[in-house]
Amino acid sequence: MADKESILVTGAAGKLGAVGRTVTGLLLERGLPVRAMVRREDERAVALRGAGAEVVVGDLLEPADVYRVVSGCRRLYFGMSISARYLEATVTMATVARKVGVNALVNMSQMTVSQMSIQNTTPSPQQRQQWLSEQVLAWSGLPVVTIRPTVLLEGFFLPLTAPAVRDRSRIELPFGRGKTSPVAAADVARVIAAVLADPGPHLGQIYELTGPRSQDIDGVAREYSDALNREITYADISPEDWERELKKLGLPEHLTKHLTTMAELNRASRYDRMADGVERVTGRPAMSVREFVSLHANEFGGRRS
Ligand SMILES: NC(=O)c1ccc[n+]([C@@H]2O[C@H](COP(=O)([O-])OP(=O)(O)OC[C@H]3O[C@@H](n4cnc5c(N)ncnc54)[C@H](OP(=O)(O)O)[C@@H]3O)[C@@H](O)[C@H]2O)c1
Repeated sequence: MADKESILVTGAAGKLGAVGRTVTGLLLERGLPVRAMVRREDERAVALRGAGAEVVVGDLLEPADVYRVVSGCRRLYFGMSISARYLEATVTMATVARKVGVNALVNMSQMTVSQMSIQNTTPSPQQRQQWLSEQVLAWSGLPVVTIRPTVLLEGFFLPLTAPAVRDRSRIELPFGRGKTSPVAAADVARVIAAVLADPGPHLGQIYELTGPRSQDIDGVAREYSDALNREITYADISPEDWERELKKLGLPEHLTKHLTTMAELNRASRYDRMADGVERVTGRPAMSVREFVSLHANEFGGRRS
């Protein structure tokens, strides 16, 4: 049984954005006890335990597992990988959190939800589920804090642009002239950790999170060039070619449809957004694309000396 004050972090093993894993580390650094929920016992679980977390294994789609891991915690971060069953996991978590009684539930959402309504939705099955998840949590009466980041640098730009930057010094995306303001998952995690450490003032708030600049992909490419000290250009590829490339990666259809919708919304300038949530909550400005690419230079093929 966790200490009464333990904070539950779901999705703590981390995969793409790895927000849960980073939140776990930040809370432990603050000296707070963390119960880290992972889907399976593997080397990532061992690392979390080594860092000082209480590691619990469970499936967010199994109500009895969720009840077991939430019991004994009063504050929790809920987030999991993009999944066709995301809404089911949210409803399960909301049901359990109501039963157990929690003081704060920090819900990972998406900034596109800010533009959605009954009349105005998107073709992304993930965005639809995130919108519905927010509706359910609002009806639940739970003390919720909503986190709505725009596209993540770790969760999108790193995995989907690094191969072509490494091999051809090009960002290959079907984003047209649309502007975007990607945010680092590391900054999103800093916001969530600050909220979980002292939830009171944040309850009921919705935090929209972007990076410090909204610009088209030519502008993003200039930041890559500065960070890597070599010329990186933008190739505005066709949506059909991009979808073919995504299919070659063998991604689930749910994720592919989400990504192709993101591209469509980018081309329509729907990612041209600015919000100050990172600085407002943490007191520090959000990381720029240049800073992010500098930190991950090796994954982008290295910096020319
Ligand atoms: N990527 C973006 O650009 C972006 C932008 C805005 C918002 N978001 C939101 O961010 C969230 C994803 O966060 P993230 O990128 O930090 O996630 P992530 O790195 O993919 O990690 C999520 C974790 O969830 C775990 N998980 C998946 N299904 C589970 C289940 N049934 N039971 C227990 N654990 C499960 C995974 O475990 P395994 O590793 O063992 O599979 C993984 O470790 C989503 O809500 C997404 O909508 C993403």
